[in-house]
Parts: sequence; C-alpha cells; structure tokens
Amino acid sequence: MLDFNDLFSKTKKLVGLDIGATSLKLAEVLTTSSGYVLNRFLQLPLPKGVITEGVINDPKTLSIKIKELFWNSGCRGKGVVASLSGNSVVIKKATFVQMEDAELRDLIRDEAGKYLPFDNMDDVNYDFQVLGDNEYNPNQMDVIIVAAKKDMVDSYVDAITSAGLTISIMDVDSFALETMYEANYEYEDNDIVVIVRIGADLSNINVIKGGMSIFTRDFTIGGNYITEGVQEKYGVTFEEAEQIKVQGFPESDQDDLDLRNTILDYAEPICSEIERSIDYFRSTFGSEYIKRIYLSGGTSRISGLAANLSQRLNVDTELINPLLKIGYNKRNINPKTIESIKPIAAVAIGLGLRKIGDK
Ligand SMILES: Nc1ncnc2c1ncn2[C@@H]1O[C@H](COP(=O)(O)OP(=O)(O)OP(=O)(O)O)[C@@H](O)[C@H]1O
Ligand SMILES: [Mg+2]
Repeated sequence: MLDFNDLFSKTKKLVGLDIGATSLKLAEVLTTSSGYVLNRFLQLPLPKGVITEGVINDPKTLSIKIKELFWNSGCRGKGVVASLSGNSVVIKKATFVQMEDAELRDLIRDEAGKYLPFDNMDDVNYDFQVLGDNEYNPNQMDVIIVAAKKDMVDSYVDAITSAGLTISIMDVDSFALETMYEANYEYEDNDIVVIVRIGADLSNINVIKGGMSIFTRDFTIGGNYITEGVQEKYGVTFEEAEQIKVQGFPESDQDDLDLRNTILDYAEPICSEIERSIDYFRSTFGSEYIKRIYLSGGTSRISGLAANLSQRLNVDTELINPLLKIGYNKRNINPKTIESIKPIAAVAIGLGLRKIGDK
C-alpha cells in the first residue's frame, strides 16, 4: 500500500509484522534455491485493550512489545512490513478510462469524493493498482484503490519506529493474504476463491479471481465475541473464558459438548456476516462460481466452523495452509506447533513475502 523505501533505502531485508488485538506475529521468509522458507515465526501476546478494532489505544505498551518481539527474534536491523485492517482502511474497486499512473494518481486525489468516503485527501494516504482492462469496455481499466487516514497510518509507523525499527512497507491484511495465497496455491485465470480471516475483533473477506483481489470487506466481529459469550454462559472472567474456549474445561467432568455448542452458537453472527458478504458479492458480481473458501485467523481454528460455512454457502471450505509450498526452518520453529500456527501466521507470512519495490 505504501512503500517507504525512498525514505529508508538502506534496509533490503524485510520481515513481516502482523499487529493484532491479541498478539503480535513476526514472520521472516527467506528466498532460497529451493524456494521460500519460513525461517522464523514468533508470537507475543498483547495485553487486552492495547489495540481494539485496529486502533492503537496504548502506543507506548505496543512499542515496548514490538521491541521485545524483535529482540527475542534476532531480526533487528531489517525493514518491517506491517499492515492495517478494519474500518480505518478503505479498499475500493473503480473503473477509469485508460491513462498513465501519474495522471490517475492526480485524478483520484481530485475526485476522491466520487470513489472514497473522504472529502479532504490531504489527510489521506492512498495507493492504487491497475487490475487490467475492463471486461466490457477495453477503453477502460479496472483499478483497485486503497486509502487510509494519515493519522491511522502514522500511529502504526510511530509505534514501529519508537521500537527502534524501520518501516519499509505498509500493507493491508487482505492483500497480505492474497500474497500468501499466490505463493502457495495453483490457480487458473478465472478461478474464484475467497479467503476469510477471523481474528479477535476484526475479520475480513477477500475474493480473489485469478490471483487478484476483486472484492474485499472488513467487519468488526471475531473471537472476542465468542469469548464474551463463554464468559456470560459459565459466569467466568474474560481471561478464564478465553482459556476455556481454546483449551476446553480444566476438569474433565464438565460438559464439553455443551461448550462446543456454546462456541458454535456465538460463532453464528460471525458466520452470518460472512454469508451476507458473500451473498452481496454474488449479487453484485453476477453469481460467479466460487471454487473454494479458505479460512485463516485464530478463530478459524474452532472445530466445526469450516463445515458450518461450507454447508450454508454451498462451497468447499477448508483451513488455509500458508506453508503448502513454503518450507520452514525446523531449528527455529517446533514442528509440533506447526499445525496450530498455520491459520494464525497467514497474514504475517504474506507480509514477510513482500519485497522492496514490488506492487
Ligand atoms: N484453538 C482456538 N479455538 C478458538 N479460538 C481460538 C483458538 N486459537 C485462537 N483463537 C482465537 O483467535 C483470536 C486471535 O486470532 P488472531 O491472532 O488471528 O487475531 P489478532 O490478529 O490478534 O486480532 P485482530 O486481527 O482481530 O486484530 C482470539 O479471539 C483467540 O481466542
Ligand atoms: Mg490480526
């Protein structure tokens, strides 16, 4: 989305940093003669409230935690690729007559009100990517525009630079997932797949056609909603509910079936939000055939979720595998943890795959 390379051209080696509501994730991907290798993956929990719905409430704690994570990883000195998601980012597809990039950049700024929910583009960072010729009118081209308020971008840049690091690229979660998908999966030009990410208080949907995003939507619901449901149902604290949700009850005499049903009940609004978005996509894009849905994000690990979505949407649904073609370094990453890492690491790996100067 934003390339800070001109400002900081010294750092050529990049490392992905996914800043989330519940944890920070760091992924270092190396390019080797036998392909990409995930050299390092680390996660560091964040205290609740430091970030909510993508907004940084406590920049000081965030910056201390980022510093700690990089210190633990041994990745210091590399450029950071981070991402934004949620309401702060606007991703919009638009059609323009054919023109050069520089001209298009000015046009988007001057006519922003037509495409973006911003009146004054002085406060907005934006970028775009030309997807290709319009299907119906070859004199026109389809363009995807990404925009975020400058103060939002700056708050992330500040947290990273205050940790003594250099930001090289600011991406968005949806595009990071697309990068990760392209590096791992084979697809035909007309194949449509949907990548769904369900986090703690943010989730997103990215519809990809032949390796390009054609529709994205972010919404502010995720695993925290389920945790609150467990909290209410069993009269425990949020922290206890979180543990019960992920690990089950500590005492085996308690009813695990009841818990499973509670979790799936509270996952219901998340599933229907996903369904609504996909219905909307289908109705605006002419009922295009969706080949598969891939789930990612911590909340996608809930058992039964993929089956539930598959049934309601009538599309094969499975957990994403960001290490389908990417290897990993068994000296740095414990093979026993690899399965549980996969859905959680998807965004960080997508960020770690970015290279300076790519688009
Ligand atoms: N095994 C599991 N079963 C159910 N939920 C899980 C499991 N593992 C993790 N989660 C949930 O996943 C969520 C965290 O996912 P993730 O790390 O993708 O989000 P985040 O990046 O921290 O947050 P966000 O993207 O919303 O800012 C939490 O709500 C957590 O409870
Ligand atoms: Mg996240």
